Amino acid sequence: MKMDGKTVLITGSTDGVGRYVATQLATAGATVLIHGRDRARAKTLSEEIKRAGGGEPVFYQADLSSLAETQQLADAVLADHRRLDVFISNAGIGSQNDGPARQTSADGHELRFAVNYLSGFLLAHRLLPLLKASAPSRIVNVASLGQHPIDFDDVMITKGYNGSRAYAQSKLSQIMFTIDLAEALKGSGVTVNSLHPATYMNTTMVRAGGITPMSTVEQGGEAILHLVTGDDVVNKSGLFFNGMNEAKANRQAYDAEARKRLRALSLELTGLPGA
Ligand SMILES: NC(=O)c1ccc[n+]([C@@H]2O[C@H](COP(=O)([O-])OP(=O)(O)OC[C@H]3O[C@@H](n4cnc5c(N)ncnc54)[C@H](OP(=O)(O)O)[C@@H]3O)[C@@H](O)[C@H]2O)c1
Repeated sequence: MKMDGKTVLITGSTDGVGRYVATQLATAGATVLIHGRDRARAKTLSEEIKRAGGGEPVFYQADLSSLAETQQLADAVLADHRRLDVFISNAGIGSQNDGPARQTSADGHELRFAVNYLSGFLLAHRLLPLLKASAPSRIVNVASLGQHPIDFDDVMITKGYNGSRAYAQSKLSQIMFTIDLAEALKGSGVTVNSLHPATYMNTTMVRAGGITPMSTVEQGGEAILHLVTGDDVVNKSGLFFNGMNEAKANRQAYDAEARKRLRALSLELTGLPGA
Protein backbone atom coordinates (compact mmCIF):
# COMPACT_ATOMS: atom_id res chain seq x y z
CA MET A 1 0.00 0.00 0.00
CA LYS A 2 1.39 3.41 -0.99
CA MET A 3 1.06 5.87 1.87
CA ASP A 4 0.73 9.02 -0.22
CA GLY A 5 -2.75 10.45 0.24
CA LYS A 6 -3.68 7.86 2.85
CA THR A 7 -5.03 8.63 6.32
CA VAL A 8 -3.90 6.52 9.25
CA LEU A 9 -5.00 6.60 12.88
CA ILE A 10 -2.55 5.12 15.36
CA THR A 11 -3.47 5.04 19.02
CA GLY A 12 -0.70 5.32 21.58
CA SER A 13 1.61 7.15 19.22
CA THR A 14 3.03 9.62 21.73
CA ASP A 15 5.56 7.03 22.92
CA GLY A 16 7.27 3.74 22.14
CA VAL A 17 6.70 1.76 18.97
CA GLY A 18 3.62 3.80 18.02
CA ARG A 19 5.72 6.92 17.91
CA TYR A 20 8.17 5.24 15.51
CA VAL A 21 5.39 3.94 13.26
CA ALA A 22 3.67 7.35 13.16
CA THR A 23 6.93 9.01 12.10
CA GLN A 24 7.61 6.44 9.37
CA LEU A 25 4.09 6.69 7.95
CA ALA A 26 4.06 10.49 8.04
CA THR A 27 7.39 10.75 6.25
CA ALA A 28 6.09 8.24 3.67
CA GLY A 29 3.34 10.74 2.82
CA ALA A 30 0.39 9.66 4.97
CA THR A 31 -1.81 12.00 6.93
CA VAL A 32 -1.20 10.63 10.39
CA LEU A 33 -3.70 10.97 13.20
CA ILE A 34 -1.65 10.62 16.35
CA HIS A 35 -3.15 9.87 19.74
CA GLY A 36 -2.17 9.78 23.39
CA ARG A 37 -2.95 11.34 26.74
CA ASP A 38 -0.21 13.93 26.80
CA ARG A 39 -0.40 17.07 24.66
CA ALA A 40 3.23 18.06 25.31
CA ARG A 41 4.53 14.68 24.12
CA ALA A 42 2.34 14.99 21.02
CA LYS A 43 3.73 18.46 20.30
CA THR A 44 7.31 17.20 20.49
CA LEU A 45 6.43 14.34 18.12
CA SER A 46 4.69 16.71 15.68
CA GLU A 47 7.79 18.89 15.53
CA GLU A 48 10.01 15.86 15.02
CA ILE A 49 7.81 14.58 12.16
CA LYS A 50 7.83 17.97 10.45
CA ARG A 51 11.62 18.21 10.80
CA ALA A 52 11.90 14.74 9.24
CA GLY A 53 9.90 15.95 6.22
CA GLY A 54 6.43 14.62 7.07
CA GLY A 55 3.20 16.59 7.02
CA GLU A 56 1.84 17.96 10.27
CA PRO A 57 0.06 15.17 12.15
CA VAL A 58 -3.35 15.73 13.72
CA PHE A 59 -3.37 15.07 17.46
CA TYR A 60 -6.26 13.52 19.37
CA GLN A 61 -6.11 13.46 23.14
CA ALA A 62 -8.10 10.73 24.87
CA ASP A 63 -7.68 8.52 27.89
CA LEU A 64 -8.68 5.07 26.68
CA SER A 65 -9.37 3.92 30.23
CA SER A 66 -12.66 5.77 29.82
CA LEU A 67 -15.26 4.50 27.36
CA ALA A 68 -16.75 8.00 27.19
CA GLU A 69 -13.39 9.45 26.10
CA THR A 70 -12.97 6.59 23.64
CA GLN A 71 -16.38 7.43 22.14
CA GLN A 72 -15.34 11.11 21.93
CA LEU A 73 -12.17 10.11 20.09
CA ALA A 74 -14.24 8.14 17.55
CA ASP A 75 -16.69 11.05 17.19
CA ALA A 76 -13.84 13.50 16.54
CA VAL A 77 -12.12 11.30 13.94
CA LEU A 78 -15.43 10.69 12.14
CA ALA A 79 -16.26 14.40 12.19
CA ASP A 80 -12.85 15.55 10.96
CA HIS A 81 -12.00 13.06 8.20
CA ARG A 82 -13.59 11.85 5.00
CA ARG A 83 -11.40 8.79 4.75
CA LEU A 84 -9.55 6.39 6.98
CA ASP A 85 -7.31 3.87 5.25
CA VAL A 86 -5.67 2.29 8.28
CA PHE A 87 -6.53 2.02 11.97
CA ILE A 88 -3.68 0.78 14.15
CA SER A 89 -4.89 -0.14 17.62
CA ASN A 90 -1.59 0.15 19.46
CA ALA A 91 -2.12 2.02 22.76
CA GLY A 92 -1.48 -0.12 25.76
CA ILE A 93 -0.18 -0.54 29.26
CA GLY A 94 2.17 -3.29 30.34
CA SER A 95 1.86 -5.72 33.20
CA GLN A 96 3.41 -3.37 35.75
CA ASN A 97 2.60 0.25 34.77
CA ASP A 98 1.80 2.05 38.04
CA GLY A 99 2.64 -0.96 40.19
CA PRO A 100 1.57 -4.56 40.69
CA ALA A 101 -1.88 -3.98 42.25
CA ARG A 102 -5.16 -4.58 40.38
CA GLN A 103 -6.54 -1.34 38.93
CA THR A 104 -9.86 -0.46 37.37
CA SER A 105 -10.90 1.84 34.55
CA ALA A 106 -13.20 4.86 34.77
CA ASP A 107 -16.03 2.42 34.01
CA GLY A 108 -14.99 -0.02 36.75
CA HIS A 109 -13.49 -2.66 34.44
CA GLU A 110 -10.12 -4.35 35.01
CA LEU A 111 -7.69 -1.74 33.63
CA ARG A 112 -5.63 -3.79 31.17
CA PHE A 113 -8.74 -5.40 29.69
CA ALA A 114 -10.23 -1.90 29.34
CA VAL A 115 -7.26 -0.02 27.87
CA ASN A 116 -5.56 -2.73 25.84
CA TYR A 117 -8.64 -4.46 24.46
CA LEU A 118 -12.04 -2.91 25.09
CA SER A 119 -11.19 0.59 23.85
CA GLY A 120 -9.79 -0.87 20.60
CA PHE A 121 -12.91 -3.02 20.19
CA LEU A 122 -15.08 0.08 20.56
CA LEU A 123 -12.94 2.27 18.28
CA ALA A 124 -12.80 -0.35 15.53
CA HIS A 125 -16.59 -0.70 15.52
CA ARG A 126 -17.19 3.04 15.56
CA LEU A 127 -14.66 3.63 12.76
CA LEU A 128 -15.84 0.75 10.55
CA PRO A 129 -18.21 2.83 8.41
CA LEU A 130 -15.35 5.17 7.47
CA LEU A 131 -12.90 2.29 6.94
CA LYS A 132 -15.44 0.51 4.72
CA ALA A 133 -16.06 3.69 2.73
CA SER A 134 -12.29 3.99 2.19
CA ALA A 135 -11.74 0.31 1.23
CA PRO A 136 -9.37 -1.32 0.56
CA SER A 137 -8.42 -0.51 4.13
CA ARG A 138 -6.75 -2.24 7.04
CA ILE A 139 -7.01 -2.63 10.79
CA VAL A 140 -3.91 -3.71 12.70
CA ASN A 141 -4.26 -4.80 16.32
CA VAL A 142 -0.96 -4.65 18.18
CA ALA A 143 -1.19 -7.65 20.51
CA SER A 144 1.57 -9.83 21.98
CA LEU A 145 2.99 -13.33 22.35
CA GLY A 146 2.06 -12.91 26.01
CA GLN A 147 -1.39 -14.54 25.97
CA HIS A 148 -3.55 -15.97 28.77
CA PRO A 149 -6.94 -17.62 28.24
CA ILE A 150 -9.99 -15.75 29.50
CA ASP A 151 -11.78 -17.22 32.51
CA PHE A 152 -15.34 -16.27 31.62
CA ASP A 153 -16.36 -16.69 35.27
CA ASP A 154 -13.96 -13.91 36.26
CA VAL A 155 -13.05 -11.80 33.22
CA MET A 156 -12.24 -8.82 35.43
CA ILE A 157 -9.77 -10.96 37.43
CA THR A 158 -11.19 -10.13 40.84
CA LYS A 159 -9.55 -13.29 42.25
CA GLY A 160 -5.87 -14.18 41.99
CA TYR A 161 -4.93 -11.00 40.14
CA ASN A 162 -1.48 -10.50 38.74
CA GLY A 163 -0.39 -7.98 36.15
CA SER A 164 1.14 -10.49 33.75
CA ARG A 165 -2.07 -12.49 33.55
CA ALA A 166 -4.14 -9.31 33.12
CA TYR A 167 -1.86 -8.06 30.35
CA ALA A 168 -1.79 -11.44 28.61
CA GLN A 169 -5.58 -11.84 28.85
CA SER A 170 -6.07 -8.42 27.24
CA LYS A 171 -3.67 -9.34 24.43
CA LEU A 172 -5.41 -12.66 23.69
CA SER A 173 -8.71 -10.77 23.69
CA GLN A 174 -7.36 -8.54 20.91
CA ILE A 175 -6.39 -11.63 18.88
CA MET A 176 -9.79 -13.28 19.42
CA PHE A 177 -11.48 -10.06 18.34
CA THR A 178 -9.27 -9.93 15.23
CA ILE A 179 -10.39 -13.41 14.11
CA ASP A 180 -14.01 -12.63 14.84
CA LEU A 181 -13.99 -9.26 13.10
CA ALA A 182 -12.25 -10.68 10.02
CA GLU A 183 -15.14 -13.12 9.63
CA ALA A 184 -17.66 -10.29 9.84
CA LEU A 185 -15.68 -8.17 7.37
CA LYS A 186 -15.37 -10.82 4.63
CA GLY A 187 -16.00 -9.19 1.26
CA SER A 188 -15.96 -5.65 2.67
CA GLY A 189 -12.44 -4.77 1.49
CA VAL A 190 -11.38 -4.17 5.11
CA THR A 191 -8.80 -6.59 6.48
CA VAL A 192 -7.84 -7.01 10.12
CA ASN A 193 -4.75 -8.72 11.50
CA SER A 194 -2.97 -8.82 14.84
CA LEU A 195 0.66 -9.21 15.78
CA HIS A 196 3.38 -9.51 18.35
CA PRO A 197 5.69 -6.72 17.15
CA ALA A 198 8.92 -7.80 18.91
CA THR A 199 10.00 -9.13 22.28
CA TYR A 200 10.80 -6.61 25.00
CA MET A 201 11.41 -3.53 22.91
CA ASN A 202 13.10 -0.67 24.68
CA THR A 203 9.92 1.20 25.61
CA THR A 204 8.28 2.76 28.67
CA MET A 205 6.11 -0.26 29.43
CA VAL A 206 9.05 -2.66 29.32
CA ARG A 207 11.21 -0.43 31.50
CA ALA A 208 8.26 0.02 33.92
CA GLY A 209 8.20 -3.76 34.29
CA GLY A 210 11.86 -3.77 35.31
CA ILE A 211 12.67 -5.88 32.23
CA THR A 212 15.93 -5.58 30.32
CA PRO A 213 15.02 -4.70 26.70
CA MET A 214 15.83 -7.35 24.08
CA SER A 215 14.82 -5.59 20.88
CA THR A 216 14.48 -2.13 19.42
CA VAL A 217 11.35 -0.14 18.58
CA GLU A 218 12.58 -0.19 14.97
CA GLN A 219 12.31 -4.01 14.89
CA GLY A 220 8.77 -4.02 16.28
CA GLY A 221 7.86 -0.99 14.22
CA GLU A 222 8.86 -2.68 10.98
CA ALA A 223 6.62 -5.65 11.83
CA ILE A 224 3.67 -3.28 12.34
CA LEU A 225 4.51 -1.43 9.11
CA HIS A 226 4.56 -4.76 7.28
CA LEU A 227 0.89 -5.33 8.18
CA VAL A 228 0.04 -1.71 7.32
CA THR A 229 1.78 -1.44 3.97
CA GLY A 230 2.86 -4.94 2.85
CA ASP A 231 1.64 -6.10 -0.55
CA ASP A 232 2.01 -9.72 0.58
CA VAL A 233 -0.73 -9.28 3.22
CA VAL A 234 -3.20 -7.50 0.98
CA ASN A 235 -5.71 -10.37 1.01
CA LYS A 236 -4.84 -11.73 4.43
CA SER A 237 -7.22 -11.23 7.31
CA GLY A 238 -7.94 -12.69 10.73
CA LEU A 239 -4.32 -13.75 11.20
CA PHE A 240 -1.80 -13.43 14.00
CA PHE A 241 1.82 -12.59 13.19
CA ASN A 242 4.91 -13.00 15.32
CA GLY A 243 7.06 -10.20 13.95
CA MET A 244 7.07 -10.64 10.17
CA ASN A 245 5.73 -14.20 10.15
CA GLU A 246 2.30 -15.72 10.45
CA ALA A 247 2.04 -17.63 13.73
CA LYS A 248 -0.35 -19.56 15.94
CA ALA A 249 -1.93 -17.84 18.92
CA ASN A 250 -3.10 -19.40 22.18
CA ARG A 251 -5.61 -22.26 21.64
CA GLN A 252 -8.53 -20.23 23.01
CA ALA A 253 -8.27 -17.88 20.01
CA TYR A 254 -9.52 -20.70 17.76
CA ASP A 255 -12.46 -21.58 20.03
CA ALA A 256 -15.50 -20.10 18.26
CA GLU A 257 -17.66 -20.41 21.38
CA ALA A 258 -15.12 -18.46 23.48
CA ARG A 259 -14.94 -15.75 20.82
CA LYS A 260 -18.73 -15.54 20.78
CA ARG A 261 -18.80 -15.09 24.57
CA LEU A 262 -16.10 -12.40 24.40
CA ARG A 263 -17.95 -10.60 21.64
CA ALA A 264 -21.26 -10.66 23.55
CA LEU A 265 -19.56 -9.37 26.70
CA SER A 266 -17.69 -6.64 24.78
CA LEU A 267 -20.85 -5.43 23.04
CA GLU A 268 -22.61 -5.31 26.40
CA LEU A 269 -19.78 -3.45 28.18
CA THR A 270 -19.33 -0.90 25.40
CA GLY A 271 -23.05 -0.39 24.80
CA LEU A 272 -22.66 -1.05 21.08
CA PRO A 273 -25.76 -2.33 19.30
CA GLY A 274 -26.01 -6.09 18.75
CA ALA A 275 -25.62 -7.19 22.40
N1 LIG B 1 7.30 -3.18 24.28
C1 LIG B 1 7.22 -4.45 23.90
O1 LIG B 1 8.21 -5.19 23.94
C2 LIG B 1 5.93 -5.00 23.39
C3 LIG B 1 5.86 -6.38 23.09
C4 LIG B 1 4.67 -6.89 22.60
C5 LIG B 1 3.59 -6.05 22.38
N2 LIG B 1 3.69 -4.72 22.68
C6 LIG B 1 2.52 -3.87 22.45
O2 LIG B 1 2.90 -2.76 21.67
C7 LIG B 1 2.03 -1.66 21.95
C8 LIG B 1 2.85 -0.41 22.23
O3 LIG B 1 3.65 -0.66 23.35
P1 LIG B 1 4.98 0.18 23.69
O4 LIG B 1 5.94 -0.81 24.21
O5 LIG B 1 5.32 1.05 22.55
O6 LIG B 1 4.43 1.02 24.93
P2 LIG B 1 4.79 2.47 25.51
O7 LIG B 1 6.10 2.97 25.02
O8 LIG B 1 4.57 2.36 26.97
O9 LIG B 1 3.67 3.40 24.84
C9 LIG B 1 2.32 3.18 25.12
C10 LIG B 1 1.46 4.17 24.37
O10 LIG B 1 0.08 3.91 24.75
C11 LIG B 1 -0.47 5.10 25.29
N3 LIG B 1 -1.39 4.81 26.41
C12 LIG B 1 -1.14 4.10 27.53
N4 LIG B 1 -2.21 4.13 28.34
C13 LIG B 1 -3.14 4.87 27.72
C14 LIG B 1 -4.46 5.29 28.06
N5 LIG B 1 -5.04 4.95 29.22
N6 LIG B 1 -5.13 6.06 27.18
C15 LIG B 1 -4.56 6.44 26.03
N7 LIG B 1 -3.33 6.10 25.64
C16 LIG B 1 -2.63 5.32 26.48
C17 LIG B 1 0.70 5.90 25.80
O11 LIG B 1 0.31 7.26 25.84
P3 LIG B 1 0.93 8.32 26.87
O12 LIG B 1 2.06 8.98 26.11
O13 LIG B 1 -0.21 9.21 27.13
O14 LIG B 1 1.40 7.53 28.07
C18 LIG B 1 1.75 5.61 24.74
O15 LIG B 1 1.56 6.45 23.61
C19 LIG B 1 1.18 -2.10 23.15
O16 LIG B 1 -0.09 -2.52 22.71
C20 LIG B 1 1.94 -3.28 23.71
O17 LIG B 1 1.12 -4.18 24.42
C21 LIG B 1 4.84 -4.18 23.17
